[in-house]
Amino acid sequence: MHYPKNLTHALEIIWGEGMLSPGGLERLPDILEGTDLSGRRVLDIGSGLGGIDILLAEQYGATAVVGVDVEPQLIESARELVAKKGLSGRVTFNLITPGKLPFTDASFDIVFSKDAMLHVADKPALYVEIFRVLKNGGCFIAADWLWSEGAAESFVVEEWLSKSQSNTHFMSPAAALRALIEAGFIDTKITCLRHELLEVSRNEVALLKGSVGQKLAAAVGPEMAESRLASARGRQAALESGDLIPCHLRGRHPP
Ligand SMILES: C[S@@+](CC[C@H](N)C(=O)[O-])C[C@H]1O[C@@H](n2cnc3c(N)ncnc32)[C@H](O)[C@@H]1O
Repeated sequence: MHYPKNLTHALEIIWGEGMLSPGGLERLPDILEGTDLSGRRVLDIGSGLGGIDILLAEQYGATAVVGVDVEPQLIESARELVAKKGLSGRVTFNLITPGKLPFTDASFDIVFSKDAMLHVADKPALYVEIFRVLKNGGCFIAADWLWSEGAAESFVVEEWLSKSQSNTHFMSPAAALRALIEAGFIDTKITCLRHELLEVSRNEVALLKGSVGQKLAAAVGPEMAESRLASARGRQAALESGDLIPCHLRGRHPP
């Protein structure tokens, strides 16, 4: 289990209810870039606690949102949160194992993912699966953490990852773009968000050194508060060195 309760509680204190990833809900408009979700059936890969899925349905008008995740306790918490918001009819969750997605071909209009695919070991295979479950003309929209060629040998990256308990797998933007095209996507686009996420990370470090750090220490203990600060500092350093490249990925299934 990479996202135990004390970690998800800490991340919610930092990013907001139901949110496990940097920037929380504030990053959503940028990732969606005005994509119209009304009347659409959306798959969210790595749905975590479901906060994003609630917004996709409530604020962006998706008819149905299906979140998938590999950790059962997250699926359970996401279902509880969605029930509390009265959205259980429209926002549902499936526990999956990495590999083939448990959906028939052409099941979704949009496949979305925020900050989850860095945990996926075989991203090209996942792109192929995403392409398969998208309808003709459907869109893949994701925020993912990529890295520069040579980042695997970077001391800064090694230092950052040594402080993280999570399982991470990276590829370069060029390799990701090639893999999207090989999977069959058209209108592919990878946008680097390094400056924006550097700003997010700097703010996060400042908050963790101040009021939010104190709140975390009281809620989940000083060790977890320290570990979040170390992780945020490590990410900031990897962004500053240019090794870590947060990106928005886009691709369309041909009509
Ligand atoms: C940083 S959290 C992001 C959660 C959510 N997208 C958010 O922004 O709040 C990463 C999520 O990816 C999930 N995950 C890890 N490996 C996965 C895989 N192979 N397939 C789908 N989800 C995965 C984790 O369990 C976790 O919920």
